[in-house]
Amino acid sequence: MTKGLRFGLATAAFAAVVGTALIAEAQSPQIAARQDGMKQQGAQMRVLTPMMRGEQPYNMAAAKQAAGVLVASAKNIPGAFGPGTEGGNALPAIWTSKADFDSKAKALEDAAMRLAAANDEAAFKAAFPAVGAACGGCHQPYRKPQS
Ligand code: HEC
Repeated sequence: MTKGLRFGLATAAFAAVVGTALIAEAQSPQIAARQDGMKQQGAQMRVLTPMMRGEQPYNMAAAKQAAGVLVASAKNIPGAFGPGTEGGNALPAIWTSKADFDSKAKALEDAAMRLAAANDEAAFKAAFPAVGAACGGCHQPYRKPQS
């Protein structure tokens, strides 16, 4: 192999590595932003779950507030997994089954809406399980299994 050819191949390989790194960097703010959104949802569940379990007294205002945050964030999920934002712990199936994925975000939105409408503890406890199920119903097929 001539020196010139070897250099050319090395340059091409280097360009490919740099190109990949640049793409990963361009995607990461969107991935970080949607992971933050998910963490926010986790924070709402830490308000709601103890009320469900009776570890905290039922507080209608706090429950409605947390459910309202879940409604708003569920609406943001489809757009947070837009074209070209593959990565993080999101499984590639999201982008090949986007309509199904989006329907799972809608299921969370609807369940959280019913939770936000609960006006007493009995209604709250009846509505809450569907919210937890909606989180798991999407994580199971579309999120990398957590260790
Ligand atoms: C429509 C699908 C969908 C629904 C509904 C959903 N999630 Fe997620 N969630 C994901 C995906 C996909 C990821 C991985 C995202 C990534 O790494 O880019 C994730 C990641 C997370 C994470 C980890 C974030 C991080 O720091 O990496 C938490 C926490 C989380 N979800 C909580 C929840 C909770 C709580 C609910 C229900 C209130 C919920 N999610 C509902 C799809 C969903």
